[in-house]
Amino acid sequence: MQHSEQVAQLKKLLHYLDTRTTAMADDVYRNNVTDYTDPEQAKLEQDLLFRHQPLFMGLSCRAEKPGDYFTDDYSGVPILVARDRSGTLNAFINTCRHRGAKVVDGCGGARAFSCPYHAWTYGLDGRLMSRPHEEAFEGMDKAEHGLVPLPVVEKYGMIWVGATPGETFDIDDQLGGLGAEMAAYGLESYSHYETRTSTQPMNWKLVLDTFLESYHINVLHVKTIDPILHSNLGTFDGYGKNLRMIIARRTLDQLRDRPEQEWDLMPYTAVVYILFPNTVFIVQGDHMETWHVYPSPNDPNESHMMISLYTPEPATTDSARGHWDRNFDLLMRTVEEEDFPLGSNVQRGFHAGAQTHITFGRNEPSLGHFHRSIKRALGLEAA
Ligand code: FES
Ligand SMILES: [Fe+2]
Repeated sequence: MQHSEQVAQLKKLLHYLDTRTTAMADDVYRNNVTDYTDPEQAKLEQDLLFRHQPLFMGLSCRAEKPGDYFTDDYSGVPILVARDRSGTLNAFINTCRHRGAKVVDGCGGARAFSCPYHAWTYGLDGRLMSRPHEEAFEGMDKAEHGLVPLPVVEKYGMIWVGATPGETFDIDDQLGGLGAEMAAYGLESYSHYETRTSTQPMNWKLVLDTFLESYHINVLHVKTIDPILHSNLGTFDGYGKNLRMIIARRTLDQLRDRPEQEWDLMPYTAVVYILFPNTVFIVQGDHMETWHVYPSPNDPNESHMMISLYTPEPATTDSARGHWDRNFDLLMRTVEEEDFPLGSNVQRGFHAGAQTHITFGRNEPSLGHFHRSIKRALGLEAA
């Protein structure tokens, strides 16, 4: 973010602090309970959002060097992302062309991918290089049995993959004007520290909702993050289908004693982006966190997520690793002991029939923007 824009955002936050206000939506928003429970809507989301939107897969450092790869099993299509010898990033359906086994699991470094079933072996560029007993496959041209490529874009130090072969996408269009801001973070130089996974008995959108207001911090998180972040105090800006909210840290007040040219957004805030449709990207003072949240394929009441922590420098010492482990542990403890048990209750309560709608207050503008964007992408009327 440009320095002048950082100063403008910090001034806005100081104004909210002085006036005990926050960014406000024009109206209260009523969201259908069935958005979180309806199997038909879940099918539509799986198709339109997860098959036909580019999915943000993480920062470039997830596959930093030639031979590095990672996989994603949650989008509904098994995805393999690999950097080939020339440094080009490729994405494939992670399914063997022989009998359909999953070719590779997890992440790491490889020279080639050998299928665990009968050892058909693929290059980092997806080419089928060899198969045992070649004579048994007469007439089945090797050149036509490489891994099926998926569209992939690497830009601003970020990786997006589309889960439908042959489709193309314009990532700047998808980012809705956030490109320059993402570029300014210098994400190319970040290091991948760790990725953890979690499965929760909550609709995937309810998981994202957790991150989209600061109204609950001094209630639900009174013992954990309330000492760090202000409650009910944040900016909101929509960028096409995406959004940004900036939440003030309690250190914000200290800025008043410093000259504006020294003001820096990151130490005084947490910047939360929704990268449509399913990523929460958080600029967390001295590091970045991403939450990729996916619906369970057969159950609107369950979701899977991958949570990654990225650091500005590689963590090479025990003390650095201790620092980032403590950060990651606090994060996971907060959501797994506070947000998600609460969210699981909400999900169960949705089935009780108490009401047809839930309410997003005017002080929760990000929630309305997120759900309106989903509804538009699904071709459903906004509430
Ligand atoms: S299924 Fe992969 S080698 Fe047979
Ligand atoms: Fe929370």
